[in-house]
Amino acid sequence: MPPAKTVSVRRARPNDVPALVSVFRSVARERVYLYTEKVSGDQVGRMKKRLKDRKSLIAVAEVDGKVVGSLVLERGPAAKSAHLRTLGISVMKGFRGIGAGSALMEYAIDWARANHVKKITLGVFSSNPAAVRLYKKFGFELEGRLKNQFLIKDEFVDELLMGLQLSP
Ligand SMILES: CC(C)(COP(=O)(O)OP(=O)(O)OC[C@H]1O[C@@H](n2cnc3c(N)ncnc32)[C@H](O)[C@@H]1OP(=O)(O)O)[C@@H](O)C(=O)NCCC(=O)NCCS
Repeated sequence: MPPAKTVSVRRARPNDVPALVSVFRSVARERVYLYTEKVSGDQVGRMKKRLKDRKSLIAVAEVDGKVVGSLVLERGPAAKSAHLRTLGISVMKGFRGIGAGSALMEYAIDWARANHVKKITLGVFSSNPAAVRLYKKFGFELEGRLKNQFLIKDEFVDELLMGLQLSP
């Protein structure tokens, strides 16, 4: 049996941008997990901007020095929502199920607590049980359901709105 792969997580650096784009692009191309299907130049620009924003987080998961996953906690532009961050996570096919998603979630939640974030929010397709289970494992609760919100491979799916309250 091959040895278990060790996953390490850290904050992303500017020179991770090509690897971040490659992870995002490969997961987007699967077309069933993310809203984004094609990674545009605009999104790359936003990623670079977010990397510089100390109030947002981009974390990467590495296996043997290769970036195999990423997690974003994005701050919205409005003061009304300054207390929350929106979460997005992607682990490349071939590296799922080895703990990268959990390691990223743990890192992000610790970061959020240390940065006085009060709530983490996200949307996930009802057709993605692995992601829903991951979020529930970290204490996220179902807060809403937008019925038949997306059409994926000829099937309507709901959008589940989930949230993790970190402090009142
Ligand atoms: C969802 C995702 C991030 C999970 O990452 P991962 O590295 O595979 O997760 P882990 O190996 O740390 O497993 C974490 C938990 O996820 C759940 N999980 C993982 N794979 C699963 C599967 N095939 N079926 C059901 N649950 C699964 C389990 O609860 C697991 O915890 P457990 O083993 O203690 O029960 C990953 O599958 C992924 O990137 N998928 C494609 C992109 C995506 O769906 N992003 C989220 C969009 S909202």
